Amino acid sequence: MVFYKELINWYLQNNRDLPWRKTKNPYFIWLSEIMLQQTRVSQGLPYFLRFTEAFPTVFDLAKAEEDTVLKLWQGLGYYSRARNLHFTAKHVANELKGAFPSNYKDLLKLKGVGDYTASAIASICYKEPVAVVDGNVYRVLSRVFGVHTPINSTKGIKEFKELAQSLIDKEEPDIYNQAIMDFGAIHCKPQNPLCNSCKFSTICIAFNNNMVKELPVKEKKIKIKKRYFNYLVIDTNEGKTILEERKGKGIWQGLYQFPLIETKKAIDAQELVENPSFNEMDLNGAVIRRFNKKMVIHKLSHQHLYTQFWVVSMGTFKGANMQWTEVLEKPVPVLIEKFLNEYLVSGQQ
Ligand code: ADE
Repeated sequence: MVFYKELINWYLQNNRDLPWRKTKNPYFIWLSEIMLQQTRVSQGLPYFLRFTEAFPTVFDLAKAEEDTVLKLWQGLGYYSRARNLHFTAKHVANELKGAFPSNYKDLLKLKGVGDYTASAIASICYKEPVAVVDGNVYRVLSRVFGVHTPINSTKGIKEFKELAQSLIDKEEPDIYNQAIMDFGAIHCKPQNPLCNSCKFSTICIAFNNNMVKELPVKEKKIKIKKRYFNYLVIDTNEGKTILEERKGKGIWQGLYQFPLIETKKAIDAQELVENPSFNEMDLNGAVIRRFNKKMVIHKLSHQHLYTQFWVVSMGTFKGANMQWTEVLEKPVPVLIEKFLNEYLVSGQQ
């Protein structure tokens, strides 16, 4: 079975009738491909029709006011796409005399045109055999060829591009690229793909191993939480401080730390002394200064701790439970250990 031949046969019987398929004019192809990024064909279609009516040529788009362009774009989202579109229209109209670059490499130089768009325009308008890889292509290839590499990883992006490139029909890259995208959108769908009537079912690795639902694999990008820590480094004339054990679940359970005030954002000394938790400690008469010159950012896998060490100097303080010499014997987080190394070495305690 020759993959591209089967795909093109499927396309000839099933392709969608779309206005930008009736032209090879790079202006229209560029417009449609920019609009269809992160947007379904059914949603993008009315925008394409309104845009091409308002701006029949790249010169019309270049002459338009930015507000007019954004207004026509309204509802499509990702507004930087519209601004880049306008910028590139002006560039093509004014610098390139209205002629779009005619190959993949030069198309890539246009603002807002990445690998996907450059491949789409070069193949559709100029029959350059460069494979497109969009969400549909990831899905089809990962399933048929059983590729588990995450599609949003650097390795996956490279691997899928190479696989797509090895499969392209060099004679009809324009038809092949649109065929694989349509096949992904209509047949090899994210949910309920039509596996029982699929011409690739005999070779499809996902289908034959019951893994259709698991593919493609997407790496979960963890959301990093920002937290703002303020450590109160009590320092008395008697050489004492306060170190407490971190109780409860969570990071650093069982390790020791200075009294901690967590805030919603970074604060200054004034905001610190106005903080209710600070007032509860009864630190009357203390002199307060920030030890770290810049915010200390301690990076953990799921959170970044924006930390400030506030030195609170006092004569005596009855809550001060520990000599500095003892402090060094306690298990502390690396964040505090680094502070101790600087603070104690600098001899400022
Ligand atoms: N999605 C984005 N561009 C497309 C195209 N040219 N054909 C099919 N689906 C697409």
